[in-house]
Amino acid sequence: MAQRRLQPDRIPRHVAIIMDGNGRWAEARERSRNEGHRAGLESVRAVVRGAHELGVKVLTLYAFSLENWDRPKEEVEQLMRLLDRYLDSEIDECHRNGIRLRAIGRLDRLAPALRKKIDAAIERTHENREMTLVFAVSYGGRAEIVDAAQRIARDAEDGKLDVNQLDEKIFASYLYAPDLPDPDLLIRTGSESRVSNFLLWQVAYSELYITGTMWPDFRKTHLVEALVDYQNRERRYGLTSAQVRAPSEDA
Ligand code: IPE
Ligand code: IPE
Ligand code: MG
Repeated sequence: MAQRRLQPDRIPRHVAIIMDGNGRWAEARERSRNEGHRAGLESVRAVVRGAHELGVKVLTLYAFSLENWDRPKEEVEQLMRLLDRYLDSEIDECHRNGIRLRAIGRLDRLAPALRKKIDAAIERTHENREMTLVFAVSYGGRAEIVDAAQRIARDAEDGKLDVNQLDEKIFASYLYAPDLPDPDLLIRTGSESRVSNFLLWQVAYSELYITGTMWPDFRKTHLVEALVDYQNRERRYGLTSAQVRAPSEDA
């Protein structure tokens, strides 16, 4: 099994996933898009468990984008229902396994009852440190940057921030989850080679892994494959390969 090819000391700390392909998975089986989403929920369960077992410290799942609000009403309702159901059925196990839940996005657009449930789950699990599970819901990367810029402008106006001091580090501290590291690995299922407004700031140096596997078919073994691929790459951050391999020498 691929897991034997994994180097345990080089597990990416933060894995982010664009969970795409539910609709096409369903279409190929002559089933409704909603059934595709329902099947996708099983993948969420399996991948959260799998990531935790593999030692990933932060797992961010793109569950619903700001643009997804414009899908047919019935589909939006189904996606919201599934998130609700996930919280009902999985939070106990997550908590038992030391998993901390977080959420990023414009959460004020969610129905109050769902928002309350998310807040309660976050509160209940906030001391857990085994793994952080971040749901990006009602999330847009540009919106996150705009929201940060607004708060920065307000702080500048209130004299809490000197704009001349503004740098990347301070800017990033205004994003939705400033305490979390940037994703090391960004996985997209369902073949498309695009970022679709996900974590625009944070993926600056993430390794991208795109797979043809549709989200409802994605399981721990697929995650392992992605991790093995990641471990075979060299992250250069703009440097030369020689510099990366011998950082102390003047290569
Ligand atoms: C991903 O699957 C789920 C969400 C975007 C919420 P899609 O519903 O986008 O599936 P495809 O891309 O149409 O196959
Ligand atoms: C990205 O998938 C959003 C989520 C997975 C939540 P989409 O299906 O919405 O993205 P596009 O439309 O293919 O870019
Ligand atoms: Mg899609």
